[in-house]
Amino acid sequence: MASLHYKPLAFSESDVDEEFESVHTRPTTHEKRQRLKKLAFVLVAGATVMYLAFTGTRALVRAVAKPCVSSGHHRNLTTAGALPTHYTLPSGDKIPSVALGVWQASQGDVGPAVRAALTAGYAHIDGAWAYRNEAEVGQAVKDSGLSRDKLWLTSKLWNNFHAPEDVEAALDDTLAKLDTEYLDLYLIHWPVAFKKEGNNVLDVGLTADPYPTWKKLEEMVDKGKVRNIGISKVKNLTANPLKYKPAVNQVELNYFNPQPELLKWAKENDLLLEAYSPLGSTKQVKDTLALPVVQEIAKTLAITPAQVIISWHVQRGTVVLPKSVTPSRVEENLQGTFLPYETVVLYFLTVWRVVNPSKGWNIGFDVFDEEWPL
Ligand code: A2P
Repeated sequence: MASLHYKPLAFSESDVDEEFESVHTRPTTHEKRQRLKKLAFVLVAGATVMYLAFTGTRALVRAVAKPCVSSGHHRNLTTAGALPTHYTLPSGDKIPSVALGVWQASQGDVGPAVRAALTAGYAHIDGAWAYRNEAEVGQAVKDSGLSRDKLWLTSKLWNNFHAPEDVEAALDDTLAKLDTEYLDLYLIHWPVAFKKEGNNVLDVGLTADPYPTWKKLEEMVDKGKVRNIGISKVKNLTANPLKYKPAVNQVELNYFNPQPELLKWAKENDLLLEAYSPLGSTKQVKDTLALPVVQEIAKTLAITPAQVIISWHVQRGTVVLPKSVTPSRVEENLQGTFLPYETVVLYFLTVWRVVNPSKGWNIGFDVFDEEWPL
């Protein structure tokens, strides 16, 4: 019988595993020494990177800085040496590289934010049924008067609706709220299925093997209700020859959780990544934008710290989904700049995932564990 499996996404850096292990095991003297050595190495390496960031890159940055580009229906498409404004998916559709993210954009705030985005030139709104703001997003899109084919609308199937018999009704609800005939992209929001009724009651079968859900999504493509389908927070769907491969994988990517190995893997396997919480989300945005290296690059290129981070994401080859309900920031976040230096500078001493609801859902395991108990 056909089956399909998620490969859960783990933290990508071995340091983190060691950090978790250290909570549970008492280190030996040898291990302590090794750790001290490692800490010393990290501190020296960190200091060196910071020094280079502060001094060496400035001249280089000034010498080779390229003009700004942006991504949207009012703007030109990619120019040589600039950031990509779109990526082409396996369907041939072109997905804009910068979107307005509307997670945590509450009702009352989200409409004006979407209006500001569409006025500024965004062509891509990343939403979800679970954000509980789709009707307001739909109204703002309608108010813009933009024709549907000039817009990219993404939504996500919530955990309670993974059963094949529930997928289409959930999608129809999203389509009705957004007041649109089709979605450009529909993602499985989390690699976790709940029973339709009850409070986060795990559907073990559909969590362990999401193939029935995926087949139903493929049917939605064939029906014309969705143009592209994808996944979120997993490495890949494995095991079966799929009719439609996932077009994207939406994952947390930011300064504190850059996941370079996942990005490398995704590129090798032709799977586009989308970066959610790209600025570090509400919890970490301040820390991210205050980083000396980010401030320094911003100063040198005469752009804002948020633009440094957003440009970095696009330059790495991912879609980026900054969330803001502040019109001036919404506009600011669309203006990317080619960053003329090694992006490794932005990996410095990092790895801390911001978004992880596993405990809150009380499902008995961590969604981001390599080994699921299912
Ligand atoms: P707000 O929505 O009040 O403007 P992420 O995109 O990583 O999820 O981060 C979202 C957080 O970053 C929100 O708190 C948002 O605030 C803030 N934010 C978004 N853009 C900017 C910006 N250009 N400068 C400062 N903060 C920003």
